[in-house]
Amino acid sequence: MKTRLTEILGVEHPVMLAGMGGVSYAPLVTAVSKAGGFGCLGASTMGDQRMVEEIAEVRAATDKPFGVDLLTAMPGDLVGQVEKIIRGGATVFVAGLGVPAEVVDLCHRHDVLVVNMCGKVDHARRALDAGCDLVVAQGTEAGGHTGMVATMPLVPQIVDAVGSQIPVVAAGGIFDGRGLAAALALGADGVWMGTRFIATPEARGVAGFKDALIRAGEDGTTISRAFSGKTMRVLRNRYTTFFDEHPGELRPFPGQLARSMEDGVFHLGGGEDTPDIDPERECYPTGQGVGAVQTLIPASSLVTQIVEQAEQVLAGLARPAGG
Ligand SMILES: Cc1cc2nc3c(=O)[nH]c(=O)nc-3n(C[C@H](O)[C@H](O)[C@H](O)COP(=O)(O)O)c2cc1C
Repeated sequence: MKTRLTEILGVEHPVMLAGMGGVSYAPLVTAVSKAGGFGCLGASTMGDQRMVEEIAEVRAATDKPFGVDLLTAMPGDLVGQVEKIIRGGATVFVAGLGVPAEVVDLCHRHDVLVVNMCGKVDHARRALDAGCDLVVAQGTEAGGHTGMVATMPLVPQIVDAVGSQIPVVAAGGIFDGRGLAAALALGADGVWMGTRFIATPEARGVAGFKDALIRAGEDGTTISRAFSGKTMRVLRNRYTTFFDEHPGELRPFPGQLARSMEDGVFHLGGGEDTPDIDPERECYPTGQGVGAVQTLIPASSLVTQIVEQAEQVLAGLARPAGG
């Protein structure tokens, strides 16, 4: 399945692993890239030293392309971080929460592509103007920080706005080959998937995260400012409900992040052995596709299943009715 995305990234399949903070660490990224998809480290929860180590671990395990995702809006030395990403041998830098205008030239001088996460058409136009090489159109269905426009209307409108100049990748609520086929039908060049990849043996996650995912139905998530101060889709629990009922207690980003850490409910980046996790209060960022997650599947099998199912769906659509 060749698209503009597979061409520009130099990969076999138009399936990108989302750079999920706390989840997309070296084992998962390596597994996806080795399977012919595109793995992306979620470095927003790592700290610089850990990020450098994770990049080195991926590079040592495979010579396939991979990327690193950071949140532009987080306080920190973005230029210094991107220099580390370039030195480590990643081929793509992905920026969430804002256009990373200050590092686009730096990346391009080192043949590193720049990707921007977009929740609105205007974000995609600004990413294009800043020189980004592709955009991810992420609908509100997505787990993690998210906007208000759904994937179905967002993707074709971003395709119309910037798709004649740069590839557009669809994200938010996509969890199998039907979603990939639908994304291609909407004019996207591939998919960027998060939630489905959390339920893999290779994904990092604090205690209870994968189990909670398997238990949750499609209506088990909510958009809440409780954990960072910005709108984040997470599994609904007692902590999110408290702030639904007491919105006056919310602090603006990133103050609420400090609050949720003080309250002992934010451990993204921790492993299974992180102590004192209360699943009824913990931050478990999750998208609306969660109801379809019923079992852990190795990441490489997921990539293969998604592509095979998409090919079957597209072949079926190409046949005349009743034929
Ligand atoms: C646990 C989790 C952590 C996330 N962390 C980040 C992040 O650090 N940076 C980012 O750009 N997006 C982040 N996201 C959003 C994903 O990149 C992606 O857009 C989203 O997962 C796609 O929707 P889906 O979850 O329905 O597949 C996160 C999502 C999840 C579920």
